[in-house]
Amino acid sequence: MNKECIQTIQLKFTEKFGKKPILVFSPGRINLIGEHTDYNNGFVFPAAIDKGIYLAIEKTEADFSTTIALDMNEQIEFKLNNLKPFKNGSWENYILGVVYEIQKKGKVISNFNIVFKGDIPNGAGLSSSAALENSIAFGLNELFNLKLTKQEMIFISQKAEHNFVGVKCGIMDQFASMFGRENEAILLDCKNLNTEYFEINFKEYDILLINTNVKHSLSESEYNERRAVCEKIADLLKVDSLREVSLNHLDIIKEKISPKEHQKATYVIEENNRVIDASKALKDKDLISFGKLLYESHSGLQHKYNVSCIELDFLIEKAKENKNILGARMMGGGFGGCTINIIKKESVKEFSSDVEKRFNQRFNSNCSFYSVKLSKGTHVIEV
Ligand code: GLA
Repeated sequence: MNKECIQTIQLKFTEKFGKKPILVFSPGRINLIGEHTDYNNGFVFPAAIDKGIYLAIEKTEADFSTTIALDMNEQIEFKLNNLKPFKNGSWENYILGVVYEIQKKGKVISNFNIVFKGDIPNGAGLSSSAALENSIAFGLNELFNLKLTKQEMIFISQKAEHNFVGVKCGIMDQFASMFGRENEAILLDCKNLNTEYFEINFKEYDILLINTNVKHSLSESEYNERRAVCEKIADLLKVDSLREVSLNHLDIIKEKISPKEHQKATYVIEENNRVIDASKALKDKDLISFGKLLYESHSGLQHKYNVSCIELDFLIEKAKENKNILGARMMGGGFGGCTINIIKKESVKEFSSDVEKRFNQRFNSNCSFYSVKLSKGTHVIEV
């Protein structure tokens, strides 16, 4: 827990609203492997982390609600009736979207105040957005005793992202953020939400995240476009999703789709298989094979699904040159954000300082390094 974040939101809340709030922590996530498979009803392998969103929330007698985003030093006031999305890219949409989706389920809430703050950078591919959505859904559920299940809350968060934020995301981020467990990763089947939790202990290896600190502007439209391609191909094959499709099966409609579309579907089918193989490798404690699958995943994302970028590819090249790194790949939606690296503990320092230098020489900008702990999903902070 980030004590500083907790104290800051508590202080700001009491200073501004004069009441003692309920406190919620909602984590971001990493993903070991299984990218762009969730909206294809496939497999993913995420884990909640010890960085995320800290939220203070309480009811108010005022006839409007207030939300303060401390990191942005911004504030909105709004009425609960007739909620509409703000312009694209506004943080307000995460808040209003969740409130709107809760109301759409027939749940009645009255006005409330919120102060929130995060300790993960936006655009790092660590799902600060799902963390924020879940913190709002969870906080409102606590505050108004709405009796929503965790599963209902993650679907509310996801719909907020679809309908207010405008990204047609899958369920991985919200699921991992809500259902994470300490020191464990979740093998999640997005078709039926079946889970298998894996204790993650890589012994002499660590998970190192490297943030390119870039977020390319097309990322959201490109994301939605990828999803549309996958759905189109599933439709042509008369199945619910690419989850049901094998490489041979895909060839039946080869003539009806473009080579690029074919390549993208191939990636999804292969990545799904990789997730299963990766989970087997972990069961066998075979970190070498696990690492190879990570590199293959990146190669697919780079060359077939086309969601990587030069900064991410550069970091993966550097990882490949280092024999103390078993595997690495870009993480999340792509077009920027972080890579995940499985690296020997003793090499973290040297590799980081070397990459820092080279990245700066190459792009004239800085990358950042994070080590994370796998942690518990969205919960109330007891103080
Ligand atoms: C984003 C989305 C997720 C998932 C990943 C790619 O993080 O929010 O639903 O599709 O991209 O794996």
